[in-house]
Amino acid sequence: MKEKLETIRQQALEEITHAAESEALEQTRVKYLGRKGELTQILRGLSQVAPEERKTMGQAANEIKEAIASALEGRKRELEAKELEEQASRNRADLTLPGRRPRIGHKHLVSQVIEEIVDIFSGMGFQTATGPDIETEYYNFESMNTPEDHPARDLHDTFFVKDGVVLRTHTSPVQMRVMESTNPPVAVVVPGRTFRVDNDASHSPMFFQIEGLLVDKEVNFAELKGALMHFVHSFFGKDTAVRFRPHYFPFTEPSAEMDISCTVCGGQGCRLCKHQGWLEILGCGMVHPQVFRYAGYDVEEVTGFAFGMGVDRIALLKHSIDSIHHLYENDLRFLEQF
Ligand code: PHE
Repeated sequence: MKEKLETIRQQALEEITHAAESEALEQTRVKYLGRKGELTQILRGLSQVAPEERKTMGQAANEIKEAIASALEGRKRELEAKELEEQASRNRADLTLPGRRPRIGHKHLVSQVIEEIVDIFSGMGFQTATGPDIETEYYNFESMNTPEDHPARDLHDTFFVKDGVVLRTHTSPVQMRVMESTNPPVAVVVPGRTFRVDNDASHSPMFFQIEGLLVDKEVNFAELKGALMHFVHSFFGKDTAVRFRPHYFPFTEPSAEMDISCTVCGGQGCRLCKHQGWLEILGCGMVHPQVFRYAGYDVEEVTGFAFGMGVDRIALLKHSIDSIHHLYENDLRFLEQF
């Protein structure tokens, strides 16, 4: 019996020292001190031992039990410390790494271009006005002298919100809103979002326009040309050529589209200008008398000019960007270039 106890002691202590992790250590504890453990069995069997031996045997067994228990405890602490340290070294922060700088944002290219254009016109005395993105058909079409059966009213071009209400297809309705609340003279530019059912490399269903409106006594087409040429020379540079082509808009008469010499080839002809040498950038004209009547202006008293340009298109042309969609994909690698 004595020998058996001694073997258990040695074996147990040996296993404890070599237990490599908490789990193995727990198994060792169960093996010796658990309810069915080797030592526990012996302590239970003491009643069968002869009375004269029982005391010494009992003492010896208890001593061994304590020795094993305290060895277990000691090894447990060692292992815990080791495991903690391992965990700490896994999660250790490398204090020599450079810090993460917060990214400094900046204005979106479209906002920059809007500001630049508005700035040029404000230098000529134009104020800034805005109007709602969701617009009534009355303001978007009817008051702009666009009759019910006009192709611009076609379902395919216009997003309808509900009967009589649309997402504005241009910034022109703000002309009417401004005239309704202001007596002439009027000189405003109107930047804002516009919407059309259209989606390809040069069209996005949401895009930006800047409208211009000037109303006063004896405003003429030469002044329209002068204002727009000043804009082009300020924005694209003095060497940019300008031409006006006759066009049709329901709300201006006469109407024109304005082209500038190609920003890439300067007029020689290239892929961007489809070998024409010219790029169309806006529509314009003299305000139609019918529009003045809707506004309650006296058509014998005032004349005016108006224009509307696509901001996105102008941004693309200025920076030779090949698709409008780059502007709205929010890829920072693209946006950070501007
Ligand atoms: N509203 C026209 C368009 O979106 C542009 C325009 C504005 C034309 C003002 C003439 C006068 O195409």
